[in-house]
Amino acid sequence: MASATFAIAVTWTVLIVVTTTVTSVVQANLGVNWGSMASHPLNPNIVVNLLKDNGIKKVKLFDSDSWTVNALSGSKIETIVGIPNDQLESLATNYNHAKDWVKENVTAHIYDGGVNIRYVAVGNEPFLTAYNGTYVKLTFPAMQNIQKALNEAGYNKKIKVTCPLNADVYESASNHPSDGQFRSDILDEMKEIVQFLDRNNAAFMVNIYPFLSLYLNPDFPIDFAFMDENGRSINDKGKTYTNVLDANYDTLVWSLKKIGHGDMKIIVGEVGWPTDGNKFATVGLAKRFYDGLLKKLASKKGTPMRPNEKLEVYLFGLFDEDTKSIQPGFFERHWGLFRYDGKPKFPIDFTGKDNDKMLVAAKGVQYLEHKWCVVKNSVKDLRTISSQVDYACSMSDCTTLGYGSSCNNLNAKGNISYAYNMYFQMQDQSVEACVFGDSAEIVTKNASVGNCLFPIQIVSVGQRLMTMNIVVFFTTVLVSLMLSMYV
Ligand SMILES: *[C@@H]1O[C@H](CO)[C@@H](O)[C@H](O)[C@H]1NC(C)=O
Ligand SMILES: *[C@@H]1O[C@H](CO)[C@@H](O)[C@H](O)[C@H]1NC(C)=O
Ligand SMILES: *[C@@H]1O[C@H](CO)[C@@H](O)[C@H](O)[C@H]1NC(C)=O
Ligand SMILES: *[C@@H]1O[C@H](CO)[C@@H](O)[C@H](O)[C@H]1NC(C)=O
Repeated sequence: MASATFAIAVTWTVLIVVTTTVTSVVQANLGVNWGSMASHPLNPNIVVNLLKDNGIKKVKLFDSDSWTVNALSGSKIETIVGIPNDQLESLATNYNHAKDWVKENVTAHIYDGGVNIRYVAVGNEPFLTAYNGTYVKLTFPAMQNIQKALNEAGYNKKIKVTCPLNADVYESASNHPSDGQFRSDILDEMKEIVQFLDRNNAAFMVNIYPFLSLYLNPDFPIDFAFMDENGRSINDKGKTYTNVLDANYDTLVWSLKKIGHGDMKIIVGEVGWPTDGNKFATVGLAKRFYDGLLKKLASKKGTPMRPNEKLEVYLFGLFDEDTKSIQPGFFERHWGLFRYDGKPKFPIDFTGKDNDKMLVAAKGVQYLEHKWCVVKNSVKDLRTISSQVDYACSMSDCTTLGYGSSCNNLNAKGNISYAYNMYFQMQDQSVEACVFGDSAEIVTKNASVGNCLFPIQIVSVGQRLMTMNIVVFFTTVLVSLMLSMYV
């Protein structure tokens, strides 16, 4: 008996060891942002399976769409639900709305086997200078109201409020982190927010984009954007900086220190690298960035100001999003680790151990038919149709055509065909969307050229719902017909 028990104990130990190795695949300090500003978003259930298949245990959302949040139920995935900026005013000024928000978007999901909600992200980069101060006076009251409603609902220990802020809330007069301080126009608000977060043991959430440092500043030393310690370094009060992520993070640490909260917890709410739409937005540079970042996360090396702290980060983002504003730049629609259809773009190792492999693709994605829309061969004078391109592109996504992008090498005809196809796919391959004054035709031969992908759209979630409704409608009609036959 005793030896049998021993054998069982050994088996258990082995099992436990094996399980531990499997579950350590993705580091505990790593999450992903799941945005859905896409014309054809993937079905949330497919996305949750993709998260599980890749061992991702933390996710950050930008709203609290109930279908999306429900899809996470039972998954144990730590979830940050979001509140868009346009709801801040109402939540700041009307406590009853905050209570309703918590009831509908938090309480409804908390039950045995429900959703593991850990944070509510109130607003999204509300202090961006581009917003011209619109949300400056609204953000803190909205945070207070939501936290109060969470506390009243009994979640004060488990669910916390934070606010994802852009790194432009602080600045440094030099390139030295120790010169960092919060922007003077929002200093009072930042003090209130920081004090409130620290008192609640909640994290300060900041989005840091080394890509933008490079994109916005032609003189930026490129190696300083990456974490492979290949470039020059900056010395600041005896501390050595070899990359802009560390320098930026520590500028925040110094800014916090100067208002008396130098030790508070920080989460990087967004960090990543786009793969198209700009000469610096390439798969090669994205891979270089993620390799360095993931290795850093795996090590216990924090930043020079916090040398023994494991950084906690949420990668941006999961998917390419073809309806995001391109005001910041064409790259804005190409931040995904996965393409629009849930296919991974490049090999990566979430454990930071250089054991690269392709991520697991989304399963069960339904594509539209193998059809493309291109310029007819019979069109002789392309100048007569060039104006159609503007229309097609304004109604779809042509961000890969620009300088340094994956489709920049097309000839004039290829350019127009690309635009036609994007419009056609955007319109779910509707026949009327491939006319363009009789200059376009639908083909079944793959129209892609070299590295330039002419995509085929996926069946959009909305469309499937419509099909389902029609089925339900017909079933209902049939049932009523049959019933009336019996009456
Ligand atoms: C709950 O969240 C959804 C999605 O973000 C939003 O549309 C809805 O208005 C929220 N509910 C309340 C009561 O504010
Ligand atoms: C920003 O605010 C100023 C002053 O209130 C106003 O004159 C300006 O038009 C605003 N700009 C935008 C883009 O809203
Ligand atoms: C194709 O379109 C892109 C973007 O509009 C443009 O930069 C490029 O010059 C065009 N190529 C040709 C051959 O017309
Ligand atoms: C079309 O060709 C491109 C490039 O060769 C390829 O990546 C893509 O998967 C093909 N599309 C289809 C639907 O076969």
